[in-house]
Amino acid sequence: MPTADEILGRTKPIWTPPGVTVIFVLGGPGAGKGTQCARLVSEYGFAHLSAGDLLREEQDRPGSQFGDLIRENIKNGVIVPMEVTIALLEAAMGRVMEGEGKRKFLIDGFPRKMDQALKFEEAVCPSAFTLFFDCPEDILLERLMKRGQTSGRSDDNAESIRKRFKTFVETSMPVVDFYEKQGKVVKIEATGSPDEVYETVKERLRERGVEAGN
Ligand code: C5P
Ligand code: MG
Repeated sequence: MPTADEILGRTKPIWTPPGVTVIFVLGGPGAGKGTQCARLVSEYGFAHLSAGDLLREEQDRPGSQFGDLIRENIKNGVIVPMEVTIALLEAAMGRVMEGEGKRKFLIDGFPRKMDQALKFEEAVCPSAFTLFFDCPEDILLERLMKRGQTSGRSDDNAESIRKRFKTFVETSMPVVDFYEKQGKVVKIEATGSPDEVYETVKERLRERGVEAGN
């Protein structure tokens, strides 16, 4: 895993399109990002990297110097310092390219803050576009409370959810707006069932020139 200083000091991306494709996947907590990504992996041959999953893994890794920091931030629904998340993503991308040989990535739950967006594109890889799953908060809340019964996640409870919504609106939506202004957002209405949403995803991707297959 690259060090924080390495990430912060780097001014050129280590990968660039078209050799490597990065699609960011955003949407409020409970919007269905992970569910939709799993489907895209099997039909489109993407590699799926969830920033939240990588952070939870690092949090639980014995000896991690970031464990406590990650735990605190996740519980409070706030954003982990970007150099940690970017280093985890870069390392994971490297492993996927070496291991599976895949070079098309869905980066799920990232970038959640402007500094992450700018630094990742500067130091790791520029993005192709952002898939944005749009869903009103009352539906998100209902889904998360239901997920909380079985997810075992420390942040799927009413208090953490409220904080995550606040972070999403104040900190993550500006990232969506930033890419929207550049014409780089593919917006998906995400209120329906997973099947319905997936049909929309495929249609939008087709319009964007992304076809199923590996
Ligand atoms: O995406 P997910 O809901 O799994 O993220 C869980 C938590 O991980 C977030 O609420 C936040 O605390 C942290 N996170 C982050 N930066 C990201 C993605 C997740 O700090 N890019
Ligand atoms: Mg997720």
